[in-house]
Amino acid sequence: MPKPMAPKVVEALGGDAGLVKLWESADPDAELARVAPEVGALAVGGHVKVDGAFMARFPKLEIVSSFGVGYDSIDAAWAGERGLLVTNTPGVLDDEVADTAMGLVLATVRQFPAAERHLRAGRWLDGAFPLSHTLRGRTLGILGLGRIGKAIAHRAEAFGLAIAYHGRRPQDGVPFRYHATALELAENCDILVVITPGGAETHHLVDAAVLKALGPSGILINVARGSVVDEAALIAALQSKTILGAGLDVFAEEPKVPQALLDLDHVVLLPHVGSASHHTRDAMGQLVVDNIRSWRAGAPPLTPVVE
Ligand code: DGY
Repeated sequence: MPKPMAPKVVEALGGDAGLVKLWESADPDAELARVAPEVGALAVGGHVKVDGAFMARFPKLEIVSSFGVGYDSIDAAWAGERGLLVTNTPGVLDDEVADTAMGLVLATVRQFPAAERHLRAGRWLDGAFPLSHTLRGRTLGILGLGRIGKAIAHRAEAFGLAIAYHGRRPQDGVPFRYHATALELAENCDILVVITPGGAETHHLVDAAVLKALGPSGILINVARGSVVDEAALIAALQSKTILGAGLDVFAEEPKVPQALLDLDHVVLLPHVGSASHHTRDAMGQLVVDNIRSWRAGAPPLTPVVE
């Protein structure tokens, strides 16, 4: 069953002719088949798999306007080869996702959710909650120093963390230490934050070897895509205390969260809420709409995906 599109998109496009709200249909598949011959634009959530076979169902399709910055769920190369436009929502969610990353860093290192569970269970009087760990003197490794990675670095500097990073290549004018591989980055940091795009190129970039390199006091934070981390290897590393803990906003098969992760205490789990504030979701929705409206007006899209 399709999820409702963001209110901003529905509100803005609602007055336009021909808006089909698939999520309101009792039989979305039948409705999709009925409207497919006339569809020129698709507004899709980041969770919707838009592969070649899906796009081929719409003979008049010209634009796929995706709600989210990550577009690994869309076969943008297939679209590009056929002259279809794909747009995403970069820029407007950098602060929110960076805040989520830092929130997870703090929550995981200082074990706030477990401490809160302790309080809510009425166990404060049983004894103090065990002492947590610290950010003092730690190095934060950023896997993927794009716009959001830089926003995370900016925040981490204010917390007094040293910063290192890995990406395809060293970046000019960046004052942080570059490491040529994810493994080398993990060997040289205490907290590894994953904020690299998903897709084939980064699939399981964080594997058992990277987790081992992070070491027994290491923390993994993932606010990017579940596919970047080998989830089975992560669970094994947490269970064997190969690493200390993890803070995760994303999972391999969302919305499925493995029971093994739910059973672990030193893990902070969020339901992919990186960009989920009213303000930011409105801004993302507005970009989805503006891209569709530009296309309608025959103007270039505002934020095209460039493959
Ligand atoms: C995106 O937009 O790709 C992010 O996953 C939002 O949290």
